[in-house]
Amino acid sequence: MLKRSRDPHLFRPFTARSVTARNHIMLSPMCQYCGEDGLPNEWHYIHLASRAIGGAGIVCTEVVHTLPEGRISPGCLGIWSDDHRDALARLAETIRSHGAVPGMQIGHAGRKAAVSRPWEGSLPIQNGPDAWPTVSASAIPFSGGWRTPGALDQSGIDMIVESFRDGSRRAREAGFKLLEIHGAHGYLINQFYNPISNMRDDDYGGDFNNRCRFLFEVIEAVRSEWPDELPLFLRISATDWLQGGWGIDDSIRLAQILKERGQVDLIDCSSGGTSPDQQVPIHPGYQVPLAKSVKDGAGMMTGAVGLIYTPEHAESILANGDADLIIMGRALLADPYWPLKAAKTLKAGNVDWPVQYERGNIF
Ligand SMILES: Cc1cc2nc3c(=O)[nH]c(=O)nc-3n(C[C@H](O)[C@H](O)[C@H](O)COP(=O)(O)O)c2cc1C
Repeated sequence: MLKRSRDPHLFRPFTARSVTARNHIMLSPMCQYCGEDGLPNEWHYIHLASRAIGGAGIVCTEVVHTLPEGRISPGCLGIWSDDHRDALARLAETIRSHGAVPGMQIGHAGRKAAVSRPWEGSLPIQNGPDAWPTVSASAIPFSGGWRTPGALDQSGIDMIVESFRDGSRRAREAGFKLLEIHGAHGYLINQFYNPISNMRDDDYGGDFNNRCRFLFEVIEAVRSEWPDELPLFLRISATDWLQGGWGIDDSIRLAQILKERGQVDLIDCSSGGTSPDQQVPIHPGYQVPLAKSVKDGAGMMTGAVGLIYTPEHAESILANGDADLIIMGRALLADPYWPLKAAKTLKAGNVDWPVQYERGNIF
């Protein structure tokens, strides 16, 4: 019996600027915490190559930090030197050669830097060479037991903005075709734009525009090195899940400004990370309504992420117009071949398995 071939949204090509991915599935950035001095190693090549071989359209690196002291953990990756660029170039080429668009997320952890690896407790490191000084918008620790960050002065802000400029140049030189700025999860950019961790009374604090100024400067710097023909994504925490925190209306307002400016192509709608007091209503697709609100409210492309793990659910998000891209984390950690299997489930007619794996295409 002939299998019916459909044209599911999930397996239609996804295009942003001059870049076209083979489908609408992006590997979400996920730290592996096992680099050394910010450099990737065999683990990173195998991990990302497997997700490209498994059929994801866009394979994004974990967050790659623009400065050593901006790393979340001592095992996190960086792009603060040309040696880092050259090691990352091999990653980009590996991803590309297996049919996926190589993406990179860049960021700075601010007051949430210098934390031990998850298998060591994910705790702020208090002593020794890995307890490097942390910085933020204001000198407010993330929580009890965390070190107090230094409040950045103008020269500190300028230096970090420049590091994003240099990082973007190196990402381009390394051959990445998509860049995502990490502006979510309570890391440095998020520490500036949310009203909980930013108590400044200068041009970078107070009202909405001042709190977003650091983000705008980063975007400006990134775009000065990131070519017009290549897409730029921005991951935000679309809500802090806190009373008095940043909320979805703020995200829509931000997206409207970004739409007007035309530098960012897609808002990757994540959430939370500002405070341990957050109340997150976790359930499958719990962040999809955020992506839909930003998409509808600003007319921007959005990515939906967070507990999306069945092909039918992913397909329905796109078919309903709730988001423009499906960004998947843990489901792709658990199964690099999720896209190939999803194509079978959804009866997508246009998905080729790697020839080496053809004989596995029987289940
Ligand atoms: C091991 C691990 C590492 C992560 N590292 C990052 C990261 O580097 N950057 C980021 O923006 N989000 C990071 N996240 C969050 C994921 O990208 C994703 O947003 C989250 O896991 C929710 O999606 P999921 O339910 O599909 O996993 C990480 C998540 C996990 C599980």
